[in-house]
Formats: sequence, C-alpha cells, structure tokens
Amino acid sequence: MSSRRRLTRADEAVQLLEARGDSEYGGEAVTQREHALQCALLAEQEHASPELIVAALLHDLGHMLHELADDAPDQGIDDRHEHSAAAALQALFPPEVTEPIRLHVAAKRYLCAVDPDYLAQLSQPSIVSLELQGGPMTSDEANAFAASPHADDAVRLRRWDDTAKAPGLPTPPLSHFAAYVKQSARPRRDEHM
Ligand SMILES: [Fe+2]
Repeated sequence: MSSRRRLTRADEAVQLLEARGDSEYGGEAVTQREHALQCALLAEQEHASPELIVAALLHDLGHMLHELADDAPDQGIDDRHEHSAAAALQALFPPEVTEPIRLHVAAKRYLCAVDPDYLAQLSQPSIVSLELQGGPMTSDEANAFAASPHADDAVRLRRWDDTAKAPGLPTPPLSHFAAYVKQSARPRRDEHM
C-alpha cells in the first residue's frame, strides 16, 4: 500500500506537487495543490517556523506517491499517506518537517479524543477516513501522543489541514513556498565539497 519511493532532492517534492497536484483532495472541493498552498499560507500567517510551513505544504505528499484512486477511502482503503510522505522526505529534511507530517493523522485522532467540538466540525470525507485511520484515540493513546516532542506542531498542522479547503481562495504560488523548502532542507552532501 505505502510507496517505498524516496525523493533524492528537496525540490523534487515541490515538482511532485506541481506535476500531480491537480488531483482531487479526497472528496473536497479543492485540488491537492490548492489544499497544500492554503495549508502553507495558514502556517505562514500564523508565523510558524520555516520547517512547519514546509510540513504544511508537503503534509499530503503521500497521496501523490501512489496510484490509488482519489476516492480510495470510500473503498475502505487507507493509503497511510502520512507514513509514506515522512519516509520519502526523511533523508532530505529535519524531524521538524517530517515528524508533524508523520503525526498529522494521529493529531486528528487525538483531537477527536480531547476536543468535543473538533469531531463536529470535520468534513464528511474526513469522518470517513477517520474510521479507516483507527477512530478517536483512547485516553492512553492521547496521553502518549501529547508526550511526543512534535505533538504541538502536529496539532497546529492538523488545524490548518482542516481549514485549508476553501474553493477559489487566492494563495501565493508554489514558487513562494519553494523558498522555505530550500531553506529547510538538509544540506546536500555534494554542497559540502
Ligand atoms: Fe491535508
């Protein structure tokens, strides 16, 4: 299910969003690229670190690393995109980028457990995928999640993720956020030479 694809350069992640971002964002009224740009814009507007802005931009890259249909959740398939994206990016970016990405689905399950208002505002596609992702966390799971050093960033990312679904909302172009990608990427080995 999860792709084992690894990216070899940070700008490949932006190129993937450029090339494959026209697909529908999981039953929502925006494309993957629009969703990514809106999510990154929300992070920028809340003065998030460059790493967290990149996490917001790339958090759903896992949906673009496989050939499953856009409506896979309706067919009972969880593409585990949070894990495939984190795995594809971990050699290129620090944990401040990849861990909020890896935890953004867990953050949804966490918020469903601790915030009574959160579940009520989830979109229908998000409720469908929640069940495939394991449903709300138990209290033990929620305590363990909250103890993670990247839990707060994952929750911030999750709330932008849930908001970044506004049809037609103007955003800066990908090239604007590509600057954060370049800034946040680990130095390439050949750049040390
Ligand atoms: Fe998302």
